[in-house]
Amino acid sequence: MKHYRVATIPGDGIGKEVLPAARAVLDRVAAHHGLSLSYDEFDWSCERYLAEGAMMPEDGLDRIRHHDSVLLGAVGWPGVPDHVSLWGLLIPIRRSFRQYVNLRPISVLEGVPSPVSGARPGEVDFVVVRENNEGEYSQIGGRAFEGTPEETVVQESVFTRKGVERVLEYAFDLAGRRGGRLTSATKSNGIVHTMPFWDELVAERASAHPDVSWEQEHIDALAAKIVLAPARFDVIVGSNLFGDILSDLAAAVAGGIGVAPSANLNPEREFPSMFEPVHGSAPDIAGRGLANPLGAIWSASMMLDHLGHAEAGAQVMDAVRTVLASSPVRTADLGGTAGTAEFTAEVIGKLP
Ligand code: NAI
Ligand code: MG
Repeated sequence: MKHYRVATIPGDGIGKEVLPAARAVLDRVAAHHGLSLSYDEFDWSCERYLAEGAMMPEDGLDRIRHHDSVLLGAVGWPGVPDHVSLWGLLIPIRRSFRQYVNLRPISVLEGVPSPVSGARPGEVDFVVVRENNEGEYSQIGGRAFEGTPEETVVQESVFTRKGVERVLEYAFDLAGRRGGRLTSATKSNGIVHTMPFWDELVAERASAHPDVSWEQEHIDALAAKIVLAPARFDVIVGSNLFGDILSDLAAAVAGGIGVAPSANLNPEREFPSMFEPVHGSAPDIAGRGLANPLGAIWSASMMLDHLGHAEAGAQVMDAVRTVLASSPVRTADLGGTAGTAEFTAEVIGKLP
């Protein structure tokens, strides 16, 4: 029997509600496939920060370094600045474990209404590959002449050849295994150093993947096209900031933030990868059992896929698709009346 150790970090707010849902689904599908999953739960969160002054203990990364993967709910809570929760937990995990690919699949599922009339099930099915370790999210910079009319603020972006090449290689390879089309998000007309560099490396990588047809689009025009013609995309690759924004936009096109999954991948498998829904801790609905667990369940399916159990992962998504397409059971964000537990039970009921 294949055994996996999963580190779970429920985090804050609805993170603590959607993670048990994902675990329940995982346990069911694992049993069916003869897999054994064990979980070590960590209380790293804003709650911990307020009590102990840090999101995680000093040796936190060492405690999860040898797990097979990490499953995370959401972190962030009013009263703790969002940059504290991000830089105190998520970014250290993503960077220390070289999870340089943030993978976000975008599919319009039957039964999930899209706010975009042209976004139909079966037609919209693409992935956003976001660079996850460098780029615009950096701590390099500073503030001078604070509080004076001359106040000056500088924030540097960091683009390395190694960092850009590896995420592009992942994206081209993925496009080759999918529909064979890649779109690179750029802004080399306005951002004159890093973005032309990005474009050059895209062209270089493209020549190593003659099977993939590719184009580049400026981020502003690309954002409009994701809304106007979402069915035309296969793989979209972007820098940390561009990929972050585009993938939230695309998630909205696909029917909302509660549905969207993500994977933070270390493709070399030297470190655990981390799987988490795209949404945050949703303080407005937390503690009431109303959260849509689909983003977390879909993320768990991506985890199975990454661990080499694609069939088990696909069964989870088949069960989700069946529920959404054939029953009225769904959470309030999708226009239903079910709570987290009821929807989860419905999905489990459709698993083999
Ligand atoms: P949010 O995603 O928590 O909520 C935005 C809106 O979507 C809210 O109205 C919420 O009720 C709704 N929503 C989100 N997920 C839902 C779900 N599963 N089911 C039903 N409704 C859902 O984003 P917001 O409000 O901007 O951020 C709240 C906190 O979460 C902040 O502290 C923020 O920093 C943090 N956050 C954490 C993320 C992470 O852990 N990766 C990602 C985004 C935000
Ligand atoms: Mg985001």
